[in-house]
Amino acid sequence: MGLRILVIGSGGRESAIIWKLAQSDRVSELLCAPGNAGTAALAETLPIPVTNLDALVVAATQRRVDLVVVGPEDPLALGLADRLRDAGIAVCGNSAAATRIESSKSWANDLMREAGIPTAASVTVRDLAAGRRAIAEFGAPVVIKADGLAAGKGVVVAQSVAEAEAALRAMLEEHAFGDAGATVVIEECLTGRELSVLALSDGTTIVPLQPACDYKRAFANEEGPNTGGMGAYTPTRAVDDALLATIQRTILEPAMQAMNERGCPLRGVLYAGLILTADGPRVIEFNARFGDPETQVVLPVLQSDLAALLHAVATGTLATMPAPVSAGAAVGVILAAAGYPVRYEKDQPITGLDRVSDEILVFHAGTTRDADGGIVTAGGRVLTVVGRGDTLAAARDRAYGGIADITFPGGWYRPDIALREV
Ligand code: AMP
Ligand code: GLY
Repeated sequence: MGLRILVIGSGGRESAIIWKLAQSDRVSELLCAPGNAGTAALAETLPIPVTNLDALVVAATQRRVDLVVVGPEDPLALGLADRLRDAGIAVCGNSAAATRIESSKSWANDLMREAGIPTAASVTVRDLAAGRRAIAEFGAPVVIKADGLAAGKGVVVAQSVAEAEAALRAMLEEHAFGDAGATVVIEECLTGRELSVLALSDGTTIVPLQPACDYKRAFANEEGPNTGGMGAYTPTRAVDDALLATIQRTILEPAMQAMNERGCPLRGVLYAGLILTADGPRVIEFNARFGDPETQVVLPVLQSDLAALLHAVATGTLATMPAPVSAGAAVGVILAAAGYPVRYEKDQPITGLDRVSDEILVFHAGTTRDADGGIVTAGGRVLTVVGRGDTLAAARDRAYGGIADITFPGGWYRPDIALREV
């Protein structure tokens, strides 16, 4: 009997997870809640919002799923994984308590300090006076972060003291991020290449997938506002086996242990956002889930069976599995709606999806079907177009070749994803 797997989410990340799971001999049936126009091709759609925990638990129970894979942070922070486990369902997804490593930056910083994990120096403040003192001490540039979840937008890398104080005021006084910004973390600004390491952990074992680089700024040359991510690639020349071993020893293993000591073991993904400084890798953020768009490039190069790996995470048997193996390169470029990441148009008809060659992967995110059955836009990040190849250069050519075939009114993308490596 194969596994019946329910994937929670509707983004490019979940599309990539479903695409990869669909290749596994161990999978008999795939379900997705709430999914998008692309996931519907491989998985049955359950039209349940990701934050409707009651309905998700009922559906998982009634459909007798063997494994639930939770994509986004919001349902994790609300306790979806806890609720499913209480109902006796195997879950690849962190508990609400473990998700604090993502949902509170000050909590994560305390954990890192206690565990000796290399990170940026930081101070946590709740009032303007303490914040101003900290900014004066660090000097510019300095990083101002809303403590809580802010959809990747609660971080300001301030180039001057005035900009830092303005960000501080926006968070503490103008409540720009609501409760998420009632506590603010002021942090030393690190310099170096950024790296995303997605690791799987069942609380006893932690194993990294092939590291990736993502692009958070909206426009080429790191200009424009921060976004959820405009593209990603893997592998990078910036990481060799020795560096990955250092990351494992100084960051991933101690993080897993520290979470165990706090009574909130990891049982899903630990995403370490790193800066490779002259003094070695340092953590700038942890997330308790797969990254988006990193997942859209990391899974296409993964040679191992994802269903077996995620089931092992859920059942605490990761130590019995061969380490994940990856091969080749992948470049993913986001096709975004006009106006993203601020205000964007929806319901734009998408054409050219059938022109894209089979070797290109098109992972849907903000897409849906209109009354006539045509595929239209339904979000800011609409598609991730992924090219694969033996080299990054080949993968990159394919990705940009593919994205040129697809159009909708106002659609745009960054032209420089992975350019620095080729
Ligand atoms: P985060 O949401 O924590 O990933 O932060 C968003 C972006 O801010 C990161 O991708 C980095 O480019 C930048 N950033 C965050 N923390 C630091 C830091 N301590 N030093 C330099 N840049 C940072
Ligand atoms: N790519 C950034 C994130 O998933 O948070």
